[in-house]
Amino acid sequence: WGKDLMTKVIMDCDPGIDDAIALTVLLAHPEKADLIGVTTVGGNVQLDYVTQNAQKLLTFLGSHAELAAGQATPLVKEIQTASHVHGKTGMDGYDFPENSLDYPIKSHNAVTYMYNKIINSDEKINLVATAPLTNVALLLKTFPDVKENIEHIYIMGGSTLQGNITLAAEFNAYVDPEAMDIVFNSGLPITLSGLNLTENKAYVTMDEISKIKDLGHVGVMASSILDIYAGHESSIGMTKIPIHDACAVISLIAPELFTKSTNYSMDVSLTNDQYRGMTYPDRRVDSEKKNSIKVLEDVDREAFVKFIFDSIASYDKK
Ligand code: RIB
Ligand code: CA
Repeated sequence: WGKDLMTKVIMDCDPGIDDAIALTVLLAHPEKADLIGVTTVGGNVQLDYVTQNAQKLLTFLGSHAELAAGQATPLVKEIQTASHVHGKTGMDGYDFPENSLDYPIKSHNAVTYMYNKIINSDEKINLVATAPLTNVALLLKTFPDVKENIEHIYIMGGSTLQGNITLAAEFNAYVDPEAMDIVFNSGLPITLSGLNLTENKAYVTMDEISKIKDLGHVGVMASSILDIYAGHESSIGMTKIPIHDACAVISLIAPELFTKSTNYSMDVSLTNDQYRGMTYPDRRVDSEKKNSIKVLEDVDREAFVKFIFDSIASYDKK
């Protein structure tokens, strides 16, 4: 009975180290969300590595979620990866079990996989999207009827302030701004975790990261991959290490941790200049709004960090 009423989730991701932490947190809370599927997309690294990383994580975390590989490149432009941040494989730092790559790949077409999964579900599905939105945009464009069975989309992407991959743009928005534009204007309810939240508020310190290795066997894994990620972030002078993608997951399973949000009409720049992928809210009081997106603006950081730590530690308490 309880399982039937569970919040069903499909996670579209590009692991990637913060995606890995986000997936670890999600799978630690089967009482809050039933992860029925994981779909992969090219982003942090090339699609093959992303999908292998998903296999490694799902094996290591003992999940039985279905896995489908999606689009290798964005809708219009060539892909730009972030291997300088996540390492060549996208998850350097930890030797996952050899048999990880036996984890079944149910489909190599994430778009039709998501469509069939959602349209045939006896209850609405929540999407958690922590990567360039190519798969999600193609799903909504190709099969608009799917919207009737999508509950909510929780996105990590964009920003109302700073960029990261460029002065103006956040990485997921930058890689596929056309896809983000399609999703933002889909009419579906969206909760957005942008860099204004993740870099400024939803971060862990190097001291906090140093404690993760003591959180059981999943802590050893998380600590090893975070050392790579934090190594890059701190090498460019960051002392606050943002766990971007965990915000998209936690905004679904523990929304009470987020202490401020505003509904904005969000736009994304599709220009071919230095502003490509920039996202910005329409703060004008009298303008006609293109959409209405719940933009998260603050989080109880200590509770956020504790939630992540407790989720990691919970695997050794099962
Ligand atoms: O800008 C941060 C986002 O880009 C995160 O999702 C990270 O994993 C990368 O995909
Ligand atoms: Ca990501």
